[in-house]
Amino acid sequence: MSQPSDIQPPTIDRGPLAGLPPTLEWVGGRDGVLRLLDQTLLPSRIETRDTATAEQVWEAVRVLRVRGAPAIGVAAAYGLCLGLRPHRGLARDAFVTTLREIGQYLCSCRPTAVNLAWAINRMTSVAEHYPGGPASALWDALLTEAHAMAAEDAAACRRIGEHGAALVPDGGGVLTHCNAGALATVAYGTALSLLYVAHARGRRFRAYADETRPLLQGARLTAFELSQAGIDVTVLCDVAAASLMQAGRIQLVVVGADRIAANGDTANKIGTYALALAARQHDIPFYVAAPLSTFDCSAPSGQAIPIEQRPEDEVRTCGGAAVAPAGVRCFNPAFDVTPAALITGIVTERGLVQPVTRERIGDFFASGSQTPCL
Ligand code: MRU
Repeated sequence: MSQPSDIQPPTIDRGPLAGLPPTLEWVGGRDGVLRLLDQTLLPSRIETRDTATAEQVWEAVRVLRVRGAPAIGVAAAYGLCLGLRPHRGLARDAFVTTLREIGQYLCSCRPTAVNLAWAINRMTSVAEHYPGGPASALWDALLTEAHAMAAEDAAACRRIGEHGAALVPDGGGVLTHCNAGALATVAYGTALSLLYVAHARGRRFRAYADETRPLLQGARLTAFELSQAGIDVTVLCDVAAASLMQAGRIQLVVVGADRIAANGDTANKIGTYALALAARQHDIPFYVAAPLSTFDCSAPSGQAIPIEQRPEDEVRTCGGAAVAPAGVRCFNPAFDVTPAALITGIVTERGLVQPVTRERIGDFFASGSQTPCL
């Protein structure tokens, strides 16, 4: 039972997906849990799972119950609170040492999306700058910070949609890859936020979702959430994207990002690079939509971005059935890097970065109050 002075989670505007369980939400006060919509079960089953320890959050991120760069950042912040909750009786220094250990552990579960390290760094900074008082008061400040991050993520995603909606061609086709929607963030999404806002403004368009082998985030998740929001969506095999462009049915490609280097090179779901190449061949604008928390100025170029390698079995099987001979070697990087030169622009919550060059990105951040650098 929550006391009057308990810490309450923020109320989040969840836009067109308010009818579904949230991607992630803190339920309760200090003794609460992190509730996740289990994305491994979608679209067949809509079920939530409560996590109450850092280990449970680590597992949920690792097996993609919660996934998408912004969502795993916020999940990690809450995971840190859960991991630290039993340690609130420690002396302050010991508490901060434990925070660093749990933070490192949580960062280890998926290496490519920088939002995870960004979130843990932001929480660590709260601890380092906390003026005084017992560890239990610092823990309260950390939970409050995690709530702020959740609310900010939803608001940033909404603003990304508002900044980018005009790019959505009235009467045209929009292709996206993987899932950069509400399911990948606290609400609205990044790439799909453009579609939600454009749809709300009365634009008519057809969305196309690459199925996104091997884990089918496009078919299972993007098609699910766009249909739930009443947006016309067609799923295609990844290999059909270039021919769809050649047929003149795509006027915009928009994708999300897991990490954007200082020169604009962008890591996103494997297959994004091939889409960008095909879009360039067909003279179709190729946009990335991402919050500032996805930029990593400490990575000079895409070469510095670590690419997660996932289990080979994800390729050998599909929906539990073997699709390749048992024991055959499989190549399964979760992400690839699209060179900045192939990206028309990046839509952020502070507006558009275009052209995508090191200088333009540098100016963009120099001119704002927020810095994306770790
Ligand atoms: O492996 P996933 O499903 O976490 O990959 C997700 C993506 O590649 C998304 O496009 C990216 O994280 C941006 S989500 C707004």
